[in-house]
Amino acid sequence: MILVTGGAGFIGSNFVLQWCAHHEEPILNLDALTYAGNLANLHSLQGTTHHHFVQGDICDASLLAKLFDEHRPRAVIHFAAESHVDRSITGPEAFVQTNVMGTFRLLEAARTHWSSLTGQEKEGFRFLHVSTDEVYGTLAPNDPAFTETTPYAPNSPYSASKAASDHLVRSYFHTYGMPVLTTNCSNNYGPFHFPEKLIPLMIVNALAGKPLPVYGDGQQIRDWLYVEDHCSGIRRVLEAGTTGETYNIGGWNEKANIDIVRTVCGLLDEMAPASARNVTNQKTGAPVEHYAELITYVTDRPGHDRRYAIDARKIERELGWKPAETFDTGIRKTVAWYLANQEWVQGVMDGSYRDWVAKQYGANEA
Ligand code: NAD
Ligand code: DAU
Repeated sequence: MILVTGGAGFIGSNFVLQWCAHHEEPILNLDALTYAGNLANLHSLQGTTHHHFVQGDICDASLLAKLFDEHRPRAVIHFAAESHVDRSITGPEAFVQTNVMGTFRLLEAARTHWSSLTGQEKEGFRFLHVSTDEVYGTLAPNDPAFTETTPYAPNSPYSASKAASDHLVRSYFHTYGMPVLTTNCSNNYGPFHFPEKLIPLMIVNALAGKPLPVYGDGQQIRDWLYVEDHCSGIRRVLEAGTTGETYNIGGWNEKANIDIVRTVCGLLDEMAPASARNVTNQKTGAPVEHYAELITYVTDRPGHDRRYAIDARKIERELGWKPAETFDTGIRKTVAWYLANQEWVQGVMDGSYRDWVAKQYGANEA
């Protein structure tokens, strides 16, 4: 079986769903269910026998030892992390704890397990670390996109903690020969994205007539990838990547934040017109005609990286991976998903997804 950490979060749950749709091999999903973990994302797997959920912390060395002993995974796909840059600015400690210490503990548990293997089992074992393009820092408008050899220059506590974890993973290859792989991906978007992040926040706020907060001048650039494409890239790296290597994963979709927000507003105007839903501007009480009326420029994020761009030619050339979605198709699907899944949104907004998990799954196992 494979062990996935953080498989109840945004990307992890999309990965688990995609894995179960494409593979018979069982999956052990270890997730602490922080505010970002939501078992409702995996609701469609109920009754599936090859998904096993364990609630637990990747910092818990004895739990990790027990899970490796009992389940003897042939691979680890490591998603679990604190992932929100703004939260890392107000409370960096959790980021160091989970992203650095947690990754270290997981590496140690995996190394103990891997060391006990022999022959093909040992050779075939993989530890795939899921990381981010933010470790490379920020780009000027005409700089070339990040490649796998771009020097690390993280600018937020989040990206610094991810950079530290990437370095630890790398060291386990060079020092112990452990078969590791690292992926560095650009901004994901799609179903089950927690509405603290740009795209889902804009959808949820617009439908509620709330301000759409755009940091600074809104001209910061991110490179967007539909989450299912990220998951297919990870599966491809797991299958065929060369150990010790890193692979950048990206969608060749550089967009300024303000353009993203305007695109989302335009799609909502088309798919869920404010007038038909009687949306009122929560600040002024006036009826909303076009969602873009709600755009509000706010104080910039401290240390805000200006531009990210991923050069994904290595994974395309060496592993034959390409994204299936363009930004236009992916963002349309995403807006449609949020409109069709208002119950999921409501559960997240009022916190009831946590009660639901307790009721549905009891203490530990799902
Ligand atoms: P997320 O915040 O949505 O999910 C993180 C998951 O990890 C949650 O389910 C949470 O409960 C779990 N978790 C947190 N701390 C834990 C701990 N100590 N032990 C066990 N589980 C714990 O994050 P995401 O956006 O799905 O990101 C997943 C991974 O991908 C992260 O490593 C992130 O750095 C990386 N990444 C994210 C993006 C993006 O755009 N979201 C892009 C590139 C890379
Ligand atoms: O690049 C990959 C990274 O993308 C991942 O490693 C992170 O886990 C993920 O959270 C994401 O980080 P960002 O900081 O780029 O994502 P976020 O959605 O928080 O912000 C995207 C951009 O939008 C960023 O330039 C800040 C801006 N923004 C964000 C929010 C939440 C706004 O202008 N207003 C907002 O309210």
